[in-house]
Amino acid sequence: MSEEEKYKWNKAYEEGRFQSHFEGPRSVTVDWATPLLPETAEILDVGCGILRNCKELADAGHHVLAIDVAKEAFLHAPCSPPNLETMIKDLDDWEPPKNSFDLVIMVHYLNRELLDGLAQSLRPGGLLALEIRSPLSYETEKPIPRYWLRSEELNEVFPSLVILKQVNPTADSKSVKALLKRA
Ligand SMILES: C[S@@+](CC[C@H](N)C(=O)[O-])C[C@H]1O[C@@H](n2cnc3c(N)ncnc32)[C@H](O)[C@@H]1O
Repeated sequence: MSEEEKYKWNKAYEEGRFQSHFEGPRSVTVDWATPLLPETAEILDVGCGILRNCKELADAGHHVLAIDVAKEAFLHAPCSPPNLETMIKDLDDWEPPKNSFDLVIMVHYLNRELLDGLAQSLRPGGLLALEIRSPLSYETEKPIPRYWLRSEELNEVFPSLVILKQVNPTADSKSVKALLKRA
């Protein structure tokens, strides 16, 4: 990530611009995953922002590694339980450890180069909860931004994972939501 982009993210959090967007409830895909987790799960949240998707899981006793490039996101995050480990890191330069997580959370953050590594970072039976901005079908002929994902792409970008549940974008919620599993 360029210094300019990093500055942009930090500035956005500093000015509270994501407060209304990302202070809300966690992604429904994390709700789908939660009852399927082992008692003490290892969880990774990439591009975690102010921790809205993973904080409750850490509160519930799971171990969470939450990574974001923006230091300011963590400064605006609620206080962390001891089993929530935060890392300020540019994920463009990070290699996920293999066979390590029971759940990977990827919500409104997308780096296509990281997807294979994230799939491999799951333990057997591990889950990937994702929610990513996606074009509606009538928009699919247009080029889409690099941080969007077409709902039809899921099988292609995660060939080693099985889709347990998927909800495609609607006019109200322009994102693809999915829960995938490593067999
Ligand atoms: C749209 S926000 C989503 C935050 C959070 N996942 C949520 O749903 O509330 C995207 C987040 O990804 C982070 N991000 C973007 N590119 C990144 C990179 N290369 N490395 C680490 N974090 C990155 C941004 O700092 C930002 O916090």
